[in-house]
Amino acid sequence: MNSFALEPIEKASIDELRALQLKRLQATLRHAYQHSPVYRAKFDAAGVHPDDCRSLADLAKFPFTTKQDLRDSYPFGMFAVPRTQCARIHASSGTTGKPTVVGYTLKDIDTWATVMARSIRASGARPGDLVHVSYGYGLFTGGLGAHYGAEKLGLTVVPFGGGQTERQVQLIQDFRPDIIMVTPSYMLAIADEFERQGLDPRESSLRLGIFGAEPWTNDMRRAIEQRMGLDAVDIYGLSEVMGPGVANECVETKDGPTIWEDHFYPEIIHPETGEPVADGEMGELVFTSLTKEALPIIRYRTRDLTRLLPGTARSMRRMEKITGRSDDMMIVRGVNVFPTQIEELILKCAELSAHYQCVLTREGPMDDLTVVVETRAGLAPESEAAVRAAARLQHDIKVFVGSSVLVQLRPEGGVERSQGKAKRVVDKR
Ligand code: DLL
Repeated sequence: MNSFALEPIEKASIDELRALQLKRLQATLRHAYQHSPVYRAKFDAAGVHPDDCRSLADLAKFPFTTKQDLRDSYPFGMFAVPRTQCARIHASSGTTGKPTVVGYTLKDIDTWATVMARSIRASGARPGDLVHVSYGYGLFTGGLGAHYGAEKLGLTVVPFGGGQTERQVQLIQDFRPDIIMVTPSYMLAIADEFERQGLDPRESSLRLGIFGAEPWTNDMRRAIEQRMGLDAVDIYGLSEVMGPGVANECVETKDGPTIWEDHFYPEIIHPETGEPVADGEMGELVFTSLTKEALPIIRYRTRDLTRLLPGTARSMRRMEKITGRSDDMMIVRGVNVFPTQIEELILKCAELSAHYQCVLTREGPMDDLTVVVETRAGLAPESEAAVRAAARLQHDIKVFVGSSVLVQLRPEGGVERSQGKAKRVVDKR
């Protein structure tokens, strides 16, 4: 089969898709109940049985799964196959405590490679492309997930991984890749390195960037596209559900990631009540896997905030570009603030660069938010233009976000560079 043709399900009608989802959902619920003692106990405690699922709406009767459930059954307790049938283990290191461990059978690995290949194709890959992967390899799902997908699509992969920024630039210059897969924040660090070496990043061979693993705004998309001279598309995923490739933007529309709904069933719930909300309404994204064997995941609460939108380039639904995670939300003097809101405003100031962090401190009863941001290359933080930009940013944040913050300017290189996911919030309270 030509791996660049759409899979039949990508062209299926909504009715066909819903029928397939229901069949797969019922099988997944039965599999989880029969083979994972943790799920069996959770379903029993909630008084539900897989037979109670007769329509997709019945899924709402089933209990949620949280990161805590995975931690409580650390490392392999939630698996629905014996560990010996797992071909691979990945883990995501949270900010606190034990990592969350996930497992894959060989079939799961193949499913994952299939949705990743689909994602890379939707991003605009063409036969013969060379892909430079700068997502980290190892326990993180980014590197290996991208790798298997690119191979499955029939492309050539350079498995660079994260770090060694100088060498990344060297190999991009030497191998002339068409596509780069990397976090958007690390893309910026690589762009800086191009310029440090006296190279114009727009002149590089890269035509396409597949960016994800962290929230980034449409303003950041425009900034990266202009600076790198490529198409920037959004890839979404999380290890608990599979890894990268749960959803991916189509390059022709760039209007939010299309969810690969034949494998991952999305719901949006009210973050406090847990009640499902209608498509189009904002809330917390919840996923149920429809085809996973080793670790079926039932109603996993992602903590990511977004809404479901109708399909455009595909019949499957899209999710709006993620504005933030509930974990990243800062409450500053009663006002909810997401780093992405700050990012949008920073990117409107030509005097500032996109390297920034939000630092929370407390003196007395009040919390303070300081936005630490670099001036653009060559512009001194003390210069009049920079000082004026800082004042404007402070004013814009007050007006558009509603909170009073301090803005601290740093010279180029003054904000910690990420080599993977950027750390946007530094909590010193
Ligand atoms: O970050 C998987 C991944 C790798 C996705 C490479 C895309 C590219 P985790 O480390 O488990 O897995 O982190 C998952 O990262 O719940 C979101 O909060 C965030 N995230 C991932 N992709 C996006 C995105 C990988 N495109 C968590 N936009 C998720 C916004 C994202 N946030």
